[in-house]
Amino acid sequence: MALLRICVVGLGYIGLPTALMFAKSGHKVIGFDIVESKVKDLNNGICRSEEEEVRKLFDDPEVRKNFSADTMPHESDVFIIAVPTPVKHDTKEADLSHVVDSMNTVLKVLKKGNLVVIESTIPPGTCRDVVRPIIEKTGLKVSKDVFLAHCPEQILVGNSIHDLKNNAKIVGGVDQVSTQKAKVLYQSFVKGQILATDDVTAEIAKVAANAYRDVNIAFANEVAEVCERLNVLPSEAIRLANTNPRVHIHQPGIGVGGHCIAVDPYFISTVFPEQSRLIIAARSINDGKPRIVFEKIKGEMKNGRGLKLVVCGIAYKPNLRDTRESPALVIIDLLKKDGYDVTVYDPLVYPEQEGRLSEFAKNRDALVILVPHDSVVRELEYNYEEIRSLLTTHTILRF
Ligand SMILES: NC(=O)c1ccc[n+]([C@@H]2O[C@H](COP(=O)([O-])OP(=O)(O)OC[C@H]3O[C@@H](n4cnc5c(N)ncnc54)[C@H](O)[C@@H]3O)[C@@H](O)[C@H]2O)c1
Repeated sequence: MALLRICVVGLGYIGLPTALMFAKSGHKVIGFDIVESKVKDLNNGICRSEEEEVRKLFDDPEVRKNFSADTMPHESDVFIIAVPTPVKHDTKEADLSHVVDSMNTVLKVLKKGNLVVIESTIPPGTCRDVVRPIIEKTGLKVSKDVFLAHCPEQILVGNSIHDLKNNAKIVGGVDQVSTQKAKVLYQSFVKGQILATDDVTAEIAKVAANAYRDVNIAFANEVAEVCERLNVLPSEAIRLANTNPRVHIHQPGIGVGGHCIAVDPYFISTVFPEQSRLIIAARSINDGKPRIVFEKIKGEMKNGRGLKLVVCGIAYKPNLRDTRESPALVIIDLLKKDGYDVTVYDPLVYPEQEGRLSEFAKNRDALVILVPHDSVVRELEYNYEEIRSLLTTHTILRF
């Protein structure tokens, strides 16, 4: 395909690796982000991604030649929007302010013939009802002058580069020309299937996939609670249930965090509450899980207010340093409010803590592992007896 000028808006977990993949494919890529320090670092050759493969790609000479960053968008052929889409804390409705703000900035350089791709996860109808009217404020007509598609991202952070190349990619245009342009764009590097559809189908497909996972985890959490009452191991029961080839129960946990599974179901349920009874129930079960874990800790510690706890892990899942919507933070907050003295140990979030678990256990009463990062599990297994003996109650709780 012809080499394009591509402006990737938002250089976070999704935008940065996407920008680098397009740069590696030979396109001229400008990454636009409002965070000046991020832009400065990238232009100075510093990539702070926690993923080694992303850092490696950033260091590739061809990528360096084709990629630069700025705090403003540049004139381009394609604009790819990869900004955050959280929910509002009070109503749980989608907070589209970053999409709206970034689109308003892009308008300054938007030209006839451009393609706008929304990669951010958005509620169904957003391309047509929110993005399209913004573009048309300029006098440019969508589907005639400017093309628009929703191409949701399905990668797993931690495995971004592999997933960007190999996952199937949904491309949903507001018209057939937009879909076709988006399809050709992603053919630059996607080796997986490119699945052409319309914008609304792409929007609901993405949020339905994450709502499915939330519902499945809620189910796993219920199964786990039942198993505990039966005095059998939930992990073993779920492992055996999953030997049925038509069954895929997810893993139970301390709750659901992050910016996707804990958030995206609301993009359906706040718009279609009557049709979302199961989705709403799942959100409530998973949101209730941190309190159940807190009660379990209290039970194990015999309600010992004032006890000094080392709590391992505040990321929203193991082996990441991302703490957004982390259930561990909710549990820590409940413990503190109940009078426990909590010290946090998370060497991924605080790299300076690396390898110091024994030190943290000294003069503490108990250790609670909420987020089992591989490095922490290894450290604990290696020094198990020493760490246990340092704790005044010799208690190590693992969730
Ligand atoms: N992280 C994931 O695992 C994942 C997976 C699939 C989809 N998504 C979706 O992708 C989107 C981006 O998520 P993320 O995890 O990359 O977010 P992020 O917070 O890591 O990165 C977003 C970036 O956008 C920048 N930004 C915010 N407002 C801006 C503006 N007005 N103009 C320019 N830049 C702006 C921020 O400074 C930040 O660098 C979200 O909609 C998310 O739901 C994320």
